Amino acid sequence: MFKLYKKKDKDFLILNLTDVHTEDNELYEDSVKKRVLVNTVTEVVNRVRPDLITLSGDQAWAGHFKAIEFLSELMESFNIPWTLVWGNHDHDRGDEVLDKTAEIFMRGRNFIYEHGPVELGKGNFVIGICEDDKIVEGLILMDTHNRIPFINKDGKEDCGWGKLYANQIQWYKEQVCNLTDLGCKDTTIIIHQPIYAYRYAISSALKEGINPKSVSVENSYKGDIWKDGYKDSFGINHEDVCCHLVDDGFFDTVTELGSTKTVIAGHDHVNYSCIPYKGVRLTYGLKTGMGAYWRPELNGGTVLTVSSDGITDIRHEFVDATDWTK
Ligand SMILES: [Fe+2]
Repeated sequence: MFKLYKKKDKDFLILNLTDVHTEDNELYEDSVKKRVLVNTVTEVVNRVRPDLITLSGDQAWAGHFKAIEFLSELMESFNIPWTLVWGNHDHDRGDEVLDKTAEIFMRGRNFIYEHGPVELGKGNFVIGICEDDKIVEGLILMDTHNRIPFINKDGKEDCGWGKLYANQIQWYKEQVCNLTDLGCKDTTIIIHQPIYAYRYAISSALKEGINPKSVSVENSYKGDIWKDGYKDSFGINHEDVCCHLVDDGFFDTVTELGSTKTVIAGHDHVNYSCIPYKGVRLTYGLKTGMGAYWRPELNGGTVLTVSSDGITDIRHEFVDATDWTK
C-alpha cells in the first residue's frame, strides 16, 4: 500500500480528472484540443491546489506515446502526487503497449502506481491517506479492462463494456478487510467504466417524467428533479450508463462490507451525476478537456475532500473553456 499524509488541521484534497484522451496528432502548437486540455488542467489545479491528482482512465489513445509523454510532463509540472486507473482506450492495443505507457508515466517522480497482482489486470492497488499513523481514507484503484465478450440473452456471442473480474472482487474484499484491521473506516473505489449499480442509481433517484438528457447544469443542482431520499444528488447523465450488460453483484459486496462510501468513475464523458445510492455516492468524474467527445459546459474536474473522518464532500469544479476554443 502506498501512503500519503494529511496534515491534522487541514483537509486533504483529491482532484480527479478524467478521459483526457490525449493524442499524438494534437500536439502541434495551434491545436485547440491541446490548448483546452492544458488550460483546463492548469486552471483547475491552481484553483483547487490538490494534495493528490487522480486520472480515472482514457488518458490517451493507446500507443500515442508522444502524447503520453506530453501528458506526463504536464502532470509532473505541478509537482503534486498523481496516479491513475486505466480506461478501455488505454487497453486498446494490448498489454505490451499499456506496459510501455506505464513505463513512460513511471519516469515521473510524482507518479504513484503499481500494476498489482498480474491475474487481476493492470493497476490494482491501494493508496492510504494517513493522519499521523491512522489511515483516514483508503483509495482502492481497480482496472475495469477493455470490452469483454459474453453470451447475450439470445445465446449469441456479444461484446459488452468491461467489468471487474471475479478475482478482483475477492481482492477488493481482502483490501477492505486489511484496511478495516488497520482502523480505516472509509474507502473510495476509483475505476474507469462504471459498475452496474450506476444504472440502478439513476433510475431509482430521478423523478418520473424527467428526461435526464434535457436537464441543464443549473437544474441538475436543484433538488426538485430527485425523488425523496435522493435529494443530496447532483449532476445528471446525458448518456446511458455504459457498463457491462450483466450485473455481476459487485455492489452487493460493497454494501455488505460497508466500508466504501464513494465510487468515482469516468468513461461516459457527458455524465456527471453524483447519487448517494444505498449509502454509497456513485459518482461520475467531470470530464477534462475536449478529447474524443465532450460538452463544453461539462469541463473541469471533481474534488473529493478528505477530513479526519474520511471523505466529507464531493464537488465538481467547472472550467469555462469558451475562450480557448476560439
Ligand atoms: Fe473516454
